[in-house]
Amino acid sequence: MQTKGEIHTLARGEVAAAWALEVAGYPAEEAASLETLEYRQREAGELFLGNFINGKLIGFICGTRSVVDHLTARSIEVHEPTGTTVCIHSLCVDPVQRRHGIALRLLRHLVETVPRAHPTVRRICLISHQHLLPLYTKAGFTVLGPSSVTYGPDPWYECAIDLS
Ligand SMILES: CC(C)(COP(=O)(O)OP(=O)(O)OC[C@H]1O[C@@H](n2cnc3c(N)ncnc32)[C@H](O)[C@@H]1OP(=O)(O)O)[C@@H](O)C(=O)NCCC(=O)NCCS
Repeated sequence: MQTKGEIHTLARGEVAAAWALEVAGYPAEEAASLETLEYRQREAGELFLGNFINGKLIGFICGTRSVVDHLTARSIEVHEPTGTTVCIHSLCVDPVQRRHGIALRLLRHLVETVPRAHPTVRRICLISHQHLLPLYTKAGFTVLGPSSVTYGPDPWYECAIDLS
């Protein structure tokens, strides 16, 4: 069986590889810019995790902290280091590596490590299109309902895990 590789935070020089996956994975109107990913790695690098196989990035997840308890347009732009909510903004897997559990692995890793590393965080949230909601419920998230965020043509649903 092929190894699923290692999960660790990205170094600054690895962000361009994440951006290449972002551009390949998301529609143009939803993809984050290279500058946005560089900002997230610089300001919230502990929340920018990659899955590497033999040193090659095959998937990543990244987020920021927010002082409000749900994902907002502001949280997409700004990392608030004292925020008690982690907002996940990108989750992306190399097209040739999909449906092997890599996204689920990255989500579970983040959900397991955040409470230990960041005890003041109370909630992890994200927004998803409807067809991917099973990915997040499998990782333990609850679907809260439609999100207030509107970008791109399709509606978003808010998902969250409350940490005790
Ligand atoms: C969405 C994405 C991250 C999933 O990555 P992945 O590594 O293939 O996902 P996993 O193999 O961990 O999938 C776990 C479960 O999630 C669900 N799932 C994953 N991809 C799905 C898809 N395209 N459609 C419907 N359900 C999906 C399934 O229930 C799957 O379990 P199964 O394979 O046993 O049926 C990947 O397709 C991707 O990078 N897409 C482009 C970017 C994107 O849309 N990101 C999500 C933004 S909300």
